[in-house]
Amino acid sequence: MITKEQLLEAIRDVLDPEYNLPLTELNFIRDIVIKEEKISATVVVSREDEAYRNQLQERLAAAFRNAGAKDVHLRLRAISDYERNEAARKLQEQGVSGGEGTAEGSAVNVLDPQSNVQFIAIASGKGGVGKSTVTVNLAVALARLGKRVGLVDADIYGFSVPDMMGIEERPEVVGNRIIPVERFGVKVISMGFFVQDNTPVIWRGPMLGKMLRNFFHEVEWGELDYILLDLPPGTGDVALDVHQMIPQSKEIIVTTPHATAAFVAARAGAMALHTEHEIIGVVENMSYYACSKCGNKDYIFGRGGGAKLAEELHTKLLAQIPLGVPDNHVAEPDYSPSVYKADTETGRIYLDVARQLIDAAPAQ
Ligand SMILES: Nc1ncnc2c1ncn2[C@@H]1O[C@H](COP(=O)(O)OP(=O)(O)OP(=O)(O)O)[C@@H](O)[C@H]1O
Ligand SMILES: [Mg+2]
Repeated sequence: MITKEQLLEAIRDVLDPEYNLPLTELNFIRDIVIKEEKISATVVVSREDEAYRNQLQERLAAAFRNAGAKDVHLRLRAISDYERNEAARKLQEQGVSGGEGTAEGSAVNVLDPQSNVQFIAIASGKGGVGKSTVTVNLAVALARLGKRVGLVDADIYGFSVPDMMGIEERPEVVGNRIIPVERFGVKVISMGFFVQDNTPVIWRGPMLGKMLRNFFHEVEWGELDYILLDLPPGTGDVALDVHQMIPQSKEIIVTTPHATAAFVAARAGAMALHTEHEIIGVVENMSYYACSKCGNKDYIFGRGGGAKLAEELHTKLLAQIPLGVPDNHVAEPDYSPSVYKADTETGRIYLDVARQLIDAAPAQ
């Protein structure tokens, strides 16, 4: 049996665009009735436009269904003058400036569909297939193409992004907002910034969800076109949390050419489909070894895993990335162990994947 509290909890991330506060806090969700698994409720809306109303309706219904509702019936009604006064009063209490949308200096809520940020989650079935490498390089490639890009290292236990990008500094905190670290034009946030000396993170499920939420609500992202999420491997709690927290996210699945890796990756794909995330495509990593002398390609981990997976998931094979780590050197000012330069073979492949991504999920 679902409770009212669970339903409200499921939508606590949904902000009202005029007041920039959660709908639940504004008391904009009314008359919740739960009968078996059927939910009905009234939603107070501060904006007239049809697109917003439809988006909101879909988002709330999806969140309620995720919380266990089978049938959701929502009545949207326009805000009354009295409710406007009440909301304005709440806003003042919170000391937040609202109403101006995303003006300079005011917090942008990237999770709000109105913010027009495209979320792309990078998932895999197995660990170690190169998910983080792909996320980092795809983010850098998008930035090289002039996009405004954020990267969330959502692998809370197994964070690796700061190290891969050669980030040594920590984010600044201004007021009570965290300023992401910028590297190669990408704004990065990672659990790695908040632990001391590489100590392990030893939290249980609910804390992880909370941390992820903080990555969105307490971080000053500014205006972005894309946020890439490096998911932990597999289909565990965090992956599920991300799917539910960001229903509008699209996905890229990473695999190696080996049949077993592709078989396991299919489960990550199935999870995406189950949570109605559109899969943009498959990236096959470590596809072959190209001989530096003769250019001959050796398919040492087998062949065809990526193509087969793409076919199974009814999506595209976006790229086959060869074996080979970036030829960077510690002495270089922008040293980073895992970022390929733009003018290398692999760097060009990532630019091509970035272009395909922009076509599949255009920035608005
Ligand atoms: N194309 C490649 N050629 C050579 N080495 C690679 C390639 N892609 C990734 N690697 C290396 O393989 C290792 C695993 O890559 P990465 O950490 O990106 O995988 P992951 O899927 O994110 O792993 P995890 O499941 O641990 O998060 C890293 O050491 C990385 O540098
Ligand atoms: Mg990783």
